[in-house]
Amino acid sequence: NEKLQIAIDGPASAGKSTVAKLVATKLGYIYCDTGAMYRAVTFAARKKGIPFDDNQKLSELMKEIQITFLPGENEQKVFVNDEEVTQAIRQPEITNNVSAVAAQPSVRESLTNRQQEIAAQGGIVMDGRDIGTTVLPNAQVKIFLIASVHQRAVRRFKENQEKGINTPLEVLEEEIKLRDYKDSHREISPLTKAADAIELDTTSLTIEEVVNQIMKIAKK
Ligand code: C5P
Repeated sequence: NEKLQIAIDGPASAGKSTVAKLVATKLGYIYCDTGAMYRAVTFAARKKGIPFDDNQKLSELMKEIQITFLPGENEQKVFVNDEEVTQAIRQPEITNNVSAVAAQPSVRESLTNRQQEIAAQGGIVMDGRDIGTTVLPNAQVKIFLIASVHQRAVRRFKENQEKGINTPLEVLEEEIKLRDYKDSHREISPLTKAADAIELDTTSLTIEEVVNQIMKIAKK
């Protein structure tokens, strides 16, 4: 059985990580959440007082920062050096600044290299914004997940409630639009659908339906 590379890209809160995790479990593959890596760098920059758009200082940070994923009960645990940041990287002050950090060349170069090393370990499901275009351009399976802004905000709203974050729905819609705009308009590896990616609109699909569609595509 050939081990595949499965790239899942798309805008914010389209359900990428939820389905990517499930597909990886079904196939016994590694799952890599590249968004968590950009969030981890944003967390570390904030802690050190590095401005989010300071490419030079961020390049120094990239030389020393270790980002580690460890298996947890429901989700992977994320560590920056020895500090667990699994919850902290999902807070609004990180979410609303991560696009600025992710636009910096030094950060993208370093994280892209790390992601390619992780993918070299075997069968992989990787989700993000530039996996099919830049990180794994030869992936056998490329999925581009989209959903309406409203639907994505509703999903984020429900997730937030479980975490005790109370941002109103209208604010979430605006934040999602703004983050998508920044991610699609940056100079390096902007969010865009790879020419050979299959687009799935998940607005009116259940998680199970999306997972099944991706499994079908992977089995071909
Ligand atoms: O997927 P998630 O919403 O956690 O990603 C957080 C942010 O990280 C994105 O808004 C984007 O700015 C950045 N990102 C990226 N390239 C990736 C994955 C995430 O630029 N491959």
